[in-house]
Amino acid sequence: FFLPASAPPSDDFLQCLSDKIPPEQVYTQSSSSFMSVLTSSVQNPKFLTNATVRPLCIVSASDVSHVQAAVRCGRRSGVRLRVRSGGHDYEGLSYRSVRAEVFAVLDLARLRAVRVRAGNPTAWVDSGATLGELYYAIGMANPGFAFPGGACPTVGVGGYLSGGGIGLMMRKFGIGADNVLDAMIVNADGELLDRGRMGEDLFWAIRGGGGESFGVVVSWRLKLSMIPSTVTVFNIAKTAGNGGDAADALAKWETLVHQPFLPELTIRVVLQGRTALFQCLYLGGCSRLAATMRAYFPELGMMPADCHELTWLRAMSFISLGSADAPPEDMLKRTNNLGTYVKSKSDYVRRPMGAPAWGTLFNQWLANNTNGILILEPHGGVVGSVVPDSITPYPHRAGVLYNVQYGVFWWGGTDGEGAAAARRWLDGLYAAMEPAVSSNPREAFASYRDLDIGENVVGGDGVTTYESGRAWGERYFMGNFRRLAAVKGRVDPGDYFRNEQSIPPLLHPY
Ligand code: FDA
Repeated sequence: FFLPASAPPSDDFLQCLSDKIPPEQVYTQSSSSFMSVLTSSVQNPKFLTNATVRPLCIVSASDVSHVQAAVRCGRRSGVRLRVRSGGHDYEGLSYRSVRAEVFAVLDLARLRAVRVRAGNPTAWVDSGATLGELYYAIGMANPGFAFPGGACPTVGVGGYLSGGGIGLMMRKFGIGADNVLDAMIVNADGELLDRGRMGEDLFWAIRGGGGESFGVVVSWRLKLSMIPSTVTVFNIAKTAGNGGDAADALAKWETLVHQPFLPELTIRVVLQGRTALFQCLYLGGCSRLAATMRAYFPELGMMPADCHELTWLRAMSFISLGSADAPPEDMLKRTNNLGTYVKSKSDYVRRPMGAPAWGTLFNQWLANNTNGILILEPHGGVVGSVVPDSITPYPHRAGVLYNVQYGVFWWGGTDGEGAAAARRWLDGLYAAMEPAVSSNPREAFASYRDLDIGENVVGGDGVTTYESGRAWGERYFMGNFRRLAAVKGRVDPGDYFRNEQSIPPLLHPY
């Protein structure tokens, strides 16, 4: 970096920004709105303590030229950027640093346009849009088409696609990143590049190789898929213990993923306390769904009365908000909860666990902590079979039965007994699950970021070491990690875009 000798980097950075970005869109720590802008999309108060390393300033970009200016000024001054789209990063790396360093948040929440036209099977979406805004725009302007995204409407498109993006339609259409046709990225030189100009290796890397590492993706061109005008959803709860049959239902459910089973049908499961909630999205009508369930999964006891036949937009709203009557406009709400503390981890399961293991999970873990939760996302179908593991960086495809997300909630701060008890429970459960989940490596989902599995080390040359990245990177990306590092070595050899789990540059890959 070029660092002017006379001024501290922060002064030089702010001076440089002031020439290119309206001053009211740059919030320094002394601005009265600094904290409200900083917390506007934060989902976890864990990273809002007095000890949190906060940004020098927040740049609220409303135009691509602001993004380019922030990158150019940052490089010139030696101030790094943390890019934030929806702010849902599980370790808060889009707005805080684990290490003491001077950085700025580049907030994309105002860059949130969705460009979609009736009958057109593609759409452009800016990174700062939420999944809810994307679904709403598609559902209102282009009914009959859909995008395979995740269940939570407040997640940002930028981080979601950067991490691959799993959800309830990936068995039919692949993960979110498999459905990206083009993108606009601002690289480490501040240049704006489309797919043709960035080249196929960088285009491959940004579709699931993790956020922050390669540049700032400002917008994405998406492939939309045709779906029926009516889809069907249901929620069925099963209880464990005391004669309840949740363990048996789970044991049957986990064997269904690799059957030549309808990819149009996805049933994910949320486990909490003694309850397993089976949440279904079926791309078709109720009568066919009921017949399929009778034939393949009678243990669930699904009846036609359980069905809600809805448009796809309302179905996504039902899955995330729990009500068939919620107005679709609720998908546009940008809410955040700053009262509940959360820690998450993830696994992939490749062999069925079996009913006794599910029984043990309920009895020894879930029933003992009603603030613990597991979310099981089935793979198989298109994501599991049709595409090779290297089509995009998301490698958890052939042979994966389902992803497991473990979460634990607590209240009252990061230091008290509540926090410690939550950690003990989560760490104990994660250790107990080891024999049942994938190994060598024990796979993890990049978008469920977990700093427990490793953090980067910056070498004496000021660049992240490749070896330090392997610890966590090969668990997120498996055989694709080395290719990601080679791309990073080509497009950002000086490692400007980095955080505690960014892809390290591999300068001599061959
Ligand atoms: P945020 O803005 O915090 O960014 C996340 C990371 O990406 C950061 O490192 C950031 O720097 C980087 N980044 C963000 N925008 C970028 C851009 N434009 N260019 C380059 N880098 C960028 N996932 C999933 O696949 N399926 C699901 O169903 C869910 N559900 C879910 C629910 C809830 C409540 C949470 C909190 C999270 C999920 N997730 C998920 C995980 C989610 O996909 C993941 O946390 C994403 O990174 C969040 O994206 P945001 O843009 O909101 O995060």
